[in-house]
Amino acid sequence: GPMAGSSADRPQPLVIAHRGGDLRPENTLESFRHAASLGADWVEMDVHRIADGSLVILHDETVDRTTNGTGDVHSMTLAEVKALDAGYWWTPDQGRTYPYRGRGITIPTLQEVLEALPEQPLLIELKDDDLQLAADVARVLREYGATGRVMVASFHDRTLQYFRTLAPEVPTSLASGEALRFVVLQRLGLTPYHRPPGIALQVPEYHGTLKVFSSGLVRLAHDRGVEVHAWTVNDPRKMEQIFLAGVDGIVTDRPDWALQVRARL
Ligand code: G3P
Ligand code: CA
Repeated sequence: GPMAGSSADRPQPLVIAHRGGDLRPENTLESFRHAASLGADWVEMDVHRIADGSLVILHDETVDRTTNGTGDVHSMTLAEVKALDAGYWWTPDQGRTYPYRGRGITIPTLQEVLEALPEQPLLIELKDDDLQLAADVARVLREYGATGRVMVASFHDRTLQYFRTLAPEVPTSLASGEALRFVVLQRLGLTPYHRPPGIALQVPEYHGTLKVFSSGLVRLAHDRGVEVHAWTVNDPRKMEQIFLAGVDGIVTDRPDWALQVRARL
């Protein structure tokens, strides 16, 4: 839970499947269902608002890397997005085979995810700096009765702050500026604000060569009533170190490994 306490009181850290994980095409119902079947605690996904107002789940600004199409997703309609094969480039063997091509895997809408995984806790990242995206996600989460099983993240301070005003009941992480302020003050040995605006600090292990994640950061965050989630940790030895440092969640492309490492701790 979000409340700070001694480490003995804290629940076991969460395994959060980054984009649903790497074991299936990213940000698709296939990867989300697979992560859920493995027992990942949370499934992470990225949402954009496109030309006709639809909310679609994709990481990049364009469809080029993950589908058989090209172009900026924001300029497309849902019909155009749905015509694309979202399993096209997924390969388990560095491009020898593409086993998900032609199997009807599409970019899902947020509504399709909420319907397909009615119980699964979801970490939803607002990918665009777009107040209308924030408003539409808040409305859809309410319509689907999903506000109690999601956390909303964004790198964009303005968009996430606006989302909080519309859906104050939904837990959020700290946006980039908020997180940076917390981390930099901690690194300087100064005191960050008492009560950060979100309930979780999502940090990379490193930012360039600056080591961001540390047990000191975890202690200070817990002191301030904030959880720490580290992204994107894919090496089992690092997972173990980060779990042992008291992290509250690991965002990973390999939820299978993270679950195994956690079980051995
Ligand atoms: O959880 C943090 C992670 O989602 C941010 O990285 O670029 O994969 O969305 P990215
Ligand atoms: Ca993300």
